[in-house]
Amino acid sequence: MAETPPTDLPDGATLDSGGTCCPPFISGTTPVDFEFPSSLPMRTRQAAHLVDDKFKAKYDAALTAMKGLDEDDPRCFSQQARVHCAWCNGAYLVGSDSMNYQVHYSWFFAPFHRWYLYFYERILGHLIGDDTFALPFWNWDNEVGMSIPPIFTDTSVAMYDENRDACHQPPIILNLSEPASCDNGSVKSNYATIYTHMVSGATTASLFHGADYRYGIEKELNSDTTSGQLELSPHDMVHPWVGSSSNTNRENMGSLYSSGRDPLFYSHHANVDRMWSIWNDKLGRSNYTDTDLTNSKFVFYDEKKQLVQVNAGDCYDINNLRYQYQEVDMPWLSKGRSFKKAGKFRPKPTPTGFAESDDEVKSLMAPVTVLVKRPRKTRTKIQRAEQEEILNIQGIEVDMSGTT
Ligand code: C2O
Repeated sequence: MAETPPTDLPDGATLDSGGTCCPPFISGTTPVDFEFPSSLPMRTRQAAHLVDDKFKAKYDAALTAMKGLDEDDPRCFSQQARVHCAWCNGAYLVGSDSMNYQVHYSWFFAPFHRWYLYFYERILGHLIGDDTFALPFWNWDNEVGMSIPPIFTDTSVAMYDENRDACHQPPIILNLSEPASCDNGSVKSNYATIYTHMVSGATTASLFHGADYRYGIEKELNSDTTSGQLELSPHDMVHPWVGSSSNTNRENMGSLYSSGRDPLFYSHHANVDRMWSIWNDKLGRSNYTDTDLTNSKFVFYDEKKQLVQVNAGDCYDINNLRYQYQEVDMPWLSKGRSFKKAGKFRPKPTPTGFAESDDEVKSLMAPVTVLVKRPRKTRTKIQRAEQEEILNIQGIEVDMSGTT
């Protein structure tokens, strides 16, 4: 069941024509099941800062063609942008209890976005008659790619979007710690963040992909408690960093409903998707196999305007979708590991494995730092790799006295 307008828009949201974000309904259309494109040539997604002028011209031509399609064509750019709004802002309410089919904050995050990009990329290729066309990825996990890539900042091409933060233009680099600040980011700190979200904090499917979310089981989705490491950062930080601080919700990239309106969105997500493939293929981690996830359906219009129904789990192997990523260095794997914030207070670990600052009540007006020693000796290497580590912080109380 589709809702018009969507139920979950932020205040001040400006929807384009029609006040909805559902893709157009073409009467008589019933979704067909997805078939793997086994006869397609392999497409290689390249790092956006490395593409040549020929590729830039090709991408510009494809995107210009997409922006030039009729407004009611589900393949046109603004309709493609609405796809994100539809699945993210409460347009699809399922069943008699109107459960929100939300694709963030849970295990749907990675597969939904992989499929979304797949159809978007195939439409662009189709519009220029090129089956090898592949989206470039924004290589924000490498120092050389940490600014907005040049093909997106050239104001004469279709990849440009004026709704981006004025103080985050190149050569300013991404600031994953404070995305709203105008301060230049720190390469080292960015590497450390990526390492934590890809390696040390992401050893299991639930940690990396986020919590389960099933029809009929009431669950409050919430970025802090149910999102996976892949979604939390860099993903969640890059969005507001790109979006314009002059707009109410940092549109375009800073808000779910509007982020698909910036062509950079698709290259940001190509890198999020690349991170997922690295987590599987290079770091050897396994995805969820629960059929409540793998058999969940999404629908998209394909390059021929046909409505196609896909299973979330059918995108796990990108070879089957006939694309791959250009191999580039992953400096965060070695450099992110050893990062320590210089000059910060580091207490000695307590021998028990329990960290206690002391018994005194402290008010948390400033950061309190405690170093927790990990109980390495009690676990084998394999146990360490497979077990989740949980840091239990107790004794934090909110003192409301004195507030009005
Ligand atoms: Cu659907 Cu980057 O979000």
